[in-house]
Amino acid sequence: MAAEPTLSNLATESRSFAPSEAFAAQANVKAEAYDRAAADREAFWAEQADRLHWTKRWDRVLDWDAPFAKWFVGGELNVAYNCVDRHVADGYGEQVAFHWEGEPGDTRTITYADLQREVCKAANALTELGVQAGDRVAIQLPMIPEAAISMLACARLGAAHSVVFGGFSPGALKARIEDADAKLLITSDGQFRRGKPAPMKENTDKAVAETSSIEHVLVVKRTETEVPWTEGRDLWWHDVVDKQSDQHEARSFDAEQPLFILYTSGTTGKPKGILHTSGGFLTQTAYTHHAVFDHKPGESVYWCTADIGWVTGHSYIVYGPLANRATSVMYEGTPNTPHEGRHWEIIQKYGVSIYYTAPTLIRTFMKWGKEIPEKYDLSSLRVLGSVGEPINPEAWMWYRENIGKGNCPIVDTWWQTETGAIMISPLPGVTATKPGSAMRTLPGISAEVVTEEAQPVGPGGGGYLVLDKPWPAMLRGIWGDEQRFRETYWSRFAEQGYYFAGDGAKYDDDGAIWLLGRVDDVMNVSGHRISTTEVESALVSHPTVAEAAVVGASDPTTGQGIVAFVILRGNAAKDGGEEAIKALRDHVSAEIGPIAKPRQIMVVEELPKTRSGKIMRRLLRDVAENREVGDVTTLADSSVMDLISAGLKDSS
Ligand code: WT7
Repeated sequence: MAAEPTLSNLATESRSFAPSEAFAAQANVKAEAYDRAAADREAFWAEQADRLHWTKRWDRVLDWDAPFAKWFVGGELNVAYNCVDRHVADGYGEQVAFHWEGEPGDTRTITYADLQREVCKAANALTELGVQAGDRVAIQLPMIPEAAISMLACARLGAAHSVVFGGFSPGALKARIEDADAKLLITSDGQFRRGKPAPMKENTDKAVAETSSIEHVLVVKRTETEVPWTEGRDLWWHDVVDKQSDQHEARSFDAEQPLFILYTSGTTGKPKGILHTSGGFLTQTAYTHHAVFDHKPGESVYWCTADIGWVTGHSYIVYGPLANRATSVMYEGTPNTPHEGRHWEIIQKYGVSIYYTAPTLIRTFMKWGKEIPEKYDLSSLRVLGSVGEPINPEAWMWYRENIGKGNCPIVDTWWQTETGAIMISPLPGVTATKPGSAMRTLPGISAEVVTEEAQPVGPGGGGYLVLDKPWPAMLRGIWGDEQRFRETYWSRFAEQGYYFAGDGAKYDDDGAIWLLGRVDDVMNVSGHRISTTEVESALVSHPTVAEAAVVGASDPTTGQGIVAFVILRGNAAKDGGEEAIKALRDHVSAEIGPIAKPRQIMVVEELPKTRSGKIMRRLLRDVAENREVGDVTTLADSSVMDLISAGLKDSS
């Protein structure tokens, strides 16, 4: 089951599913959009920007001074007004914005009028706490409505938010607060995880204690957990926000006003603060949510299962859907709490029509068995989405048959934190889909698959995925590090001016695009990006570890699993037993977060290195995936791999 897609097994995939006539006839976007966008890309995006309410129209659609883009130059808007107020002004105040479902079973229904009141109150509270346009606000919250409300309150004030995933460690939060120089942190007392309250503020306190920029910590009460408290600095959300006026006038900001910073792993240990701005980002998230999910305001019930701490939560739980007046489900918890049918129960309860999730979860559902979804009425579903990693054909077919009952187009959406919005995906009413392929670029988007020498590979060929034209939601930089921005994305194909995505891809003979995973030292574990160096530095920060090398090995459920090879120090080396290994796994979890916990740690005496001292991860991957070890001729000491293999046999 669920083999990682490779050139060879994808090459044999020939099934193709055309949209039904009925679906095609009512689809939001028709085939002509591709040609229209190709004929005049800027006019096409200007047309999409007109989905939004601008207080001042732009003078120019695009100002492209590679690698710096400005979209809708001179235009002004307020992102929160676009996501909330204008829908109320248009008479949709009573429409539900969020059906929120708490993990323990508590629920909240939030209409657009409710959301407007809550966002205004939060914006007034933030203003009282000194937050101004241009400031940065850190947010570490569970999946509760206050997460979206906080983000929108920042947007309303022109302050950039930096949301940090709830599962990240105090150290990770600290690094992000420092890098962005955030003055306010919004967090909660605790979070529900698998039926139990887990502490949150205790951790965020540790981070704040080591930073100097945070003036206040605003704490949402969620789990009623006892929390440590610093008088003067810490404030309860219900004390500060609830008493505010629910009126707040939204000021307009420049189209390029920073909207948020979101950190993502790169090939070095230090995460990159990806910067997104307002007008272009909202235009592309709104358009793609409309086009890819065939969303009908007031009719569709939409559910994106991501966490708000990742870009998918930013673009497709908050900004795109709200700009389009969506009615969304927001779910707080894990998919098997209290039982493995929780997602299907929620779909049945709210009549979800659009469901957007990740391959790792689909493979988990496969493992739990199709009998579970069979117990629920899933007939409300119309479109199924996938994001985060390549979806293997088996999982794709299972999704189509067991969840979509053969009637729902599957949209496999390729994009990144950096792209801000979906770039490659079928259009559900137009594009025939193939199990495992993201098919083609969306209207208005341009990509190429090229060789090392920047030559287009053409049908049937494989190479590097590049984006050869700017797009509205593109990152505007790495916060505070222009050099790294240029080097990471724009240096590889500098001459051509291509954006290097870091993914391998191929075209099939029909020209459909198949994504093949990262080509750099970034792993993809359950759709989360983690760099090998990040885990290596966490390992070597443990007193028993002398050296570490980390690889992503293919994993039937999580896509890739983290496998670490460590050399232990002197005394510790004699005790490479289970307990020592458990201590190391826990250490990585504490340093980065549970998502980075290695699946497996192997104690070795040597690591395979080239003559210039570079670790040959390829060979370690062979070991981790139980394959015959490949070509070792470039190793400084070619006997190392024999030593590793022999050592592993001994210990097993
Ligand atoms: C990396 C971006 C986009 C939101 C979630 C992850 C991989 C993402 C797909 C897909 C194949 C995919 C790529 C990409 N990826 N979607 N549909 N098919 N690969 O965002 O953390 O920025 O990671 O995820 O490798 O570069 P992210």
